Amino acid sequence: MKSAIGIIVGETSPMQFKFMIGRHVGRGAYVKVRGEGKDWILAQVDEVKRSNAAYNLAHMERGKEDGQAREWIVAQARVIGVATAKGLRPPTTPSRPGEEVFLADERLIKGTLGLSQGRMYIGKLRGYDLRVELDANSLVQKHCSILAKTGSGKSYTAAVILEELLEKKVALLIIDPHGEYASMKSPGREGDFSRFKIKPRGYDVTVYTPANMTVNPRADKLFRFNGISLNAREIARMMPEESSNGQIGLLYEAITALKAETDTYDLEDVIEAVGKGTSKSKWSLIGNLEQLNEMGIFSGFPTEPDELLRRGRASVIDMTGIGPEMQSMIVARLLSELFEARKLGKVNPGMVVVEEAHNYIPERGTGKAASTSIIRTIAAEGRKFGLGLMVISQRPARVDKNVISQCNTQIIMRVTNPNDLKALSKGLEGMTGELEEEIKRLPPGTAMLVNNEIERPVVVSIRPRKSLHGGVSTPIVAPEEEMLDRPAEIRTEPPERRAEGGLLRRMFGSR
Ligand SMILES: Nc1ncnc2c1ncn2[C@@H]1O[C@H](COP(=O)(O)OP(=O)(O)O)[C@@H](O)[C@H]1O
Ligand SMILES: [Mg+2]
Repeated sequence: MKSAIGIIVGETSPMQFKFMIGRHVGRGAYVKVRGEGKDWILAQVDEVKRSNAAYNLAHMERGKEDGQAREWIVAQARVIGVATAKGLRPPTTPSRPGEEVFLADERLIKGTLGLSQGRMYIGKLRGYDLRVELDANSLVQKHCSILAKTGSGKSYTAAVILEELLEKKVALLIIDPHGEYASMKSPGREGDFSRFKIKPRGYDVTVYTPANMTVNPRADKLFRFNGISLNAREIARMMPEESSNGQIGLLYEAITALKAETDTYDLEDVIEAVGKGTSKSKWSLIGNLEQLNEMGIFSGFPTEPDELLRRGRASVIDMTGIGPEMQSMIVARLLSELFEARKLGKVNPGMVVVEEAHNYIPERGTGKAASTSIIRTIAAEGRKFGLGLMVISQRPARVDKNVISQCNTQIIMRVTNPNDLKALSKGLEGMTGELEEEIKRLPPGTAMLVNNEIERPVVVSIRPRKSLHGGVSTPIVAPEEEMLDRPAEIRTEPPERRAEGGLLRRMFGSR
């Protein structure tokens, strides 16, 4: 066996001990000591302190400084549990002072922490060559949240998880406010692929726009709701809240009149029918209806819910060009339709991903959104019906607590805002001051992972994406070459195609 790294000193308890170390052992390192019997006690270093008797304050004041460096380093370790043949059990007796401390071997760590619950490979345990693998079923059915400040790697990490889910043939629907997920179609071009042993690849992704192709040329298809023979409530739900209350009566009247004449009518027919009314307030209603009609979100050729959830494929609802209020109305209606269809078994099971979730499920007092109620319902009941939820946000404090508390897997990346940290602490069992410090310092691409299957929060170096990352930051000062090429836009075409273009140009010239 490898030699000891230190010796337990001072008072110990079942939950923690201190040990003096002879060489460097950093915070976060996993260590082991012998417990009662032969079982190993697994612990993690959460603080390291260095002191020197020669420079001890009290000592120096007495003027007895003898110049001899007597330095020692003491690490404080928190016990994770006792590794028995039957699995990890909670420690009951304090470790013995004088006992030798060893670095924990990877087999022990892997076996006891529960890092390989499934086959979804999301990264490596920080500081170790140990894969962290999650269970896809548990992640989807019991929901997942990714919370951290901007630029810490939330969308990147989400995409890593989504890649794994697609490979497990899960159907995905992604609410994408910034158009970041279209790039999942193409293989990635950078990243330490060999260290993480992965191969770049693209995925089957369809991008839908609720606007139109001019507003969003990145889209593959239009996203539309059924616009035929809508009732008053269905229409009112897509209008600004302040107007819908006063105008729903008028709308109801007009639609009743229409229905007496015909079974099938569209939004233009409704506008015409409202126009026939005599009320003075009809004009603002007509204004709203015309706006809806011009937007084109209602159509005779609606997007069918079953088309949006296909096994092993992702449908992206790219909200580029849609105002915030309309976005949440679209999400409300879309998810309601999908949830109903799922209950009836008319669509595949799958996972709904909500980026910038604070916009769609704002915490009470921080805003209102039409989509709050349905997302809460999916969080509470989705599991029964095979509809999972992933919520992503940069403002943990501003996201509906009801939804966050339903997420069994929590991925926390760097958070520094005190309100957000407080919100996280409330939602997390066993949040300690040390963990909070850790969260403030997590570098980009590093995440703290918490779920019921893993013994305690672990820090994970997220693996590189296999697919291309389409970040949202648009360079203001772009490299000259790129500026000539295509100003301030994210390049999403796969590298081969560009290489091919280059080859063709070389073969045939480009005059
Ligand atoms: N695991 C990772 N490996 C490599 N680079 C990463 C990783 N996570 C994030 N990044 C980098 O950090 C940048 C910001 O990540 P992003 O996911 O867009 O942040 P967020 O969504 O939190 O604002 C990305 O453009 C990417 O270059
Ligand atoms: Mg993001």
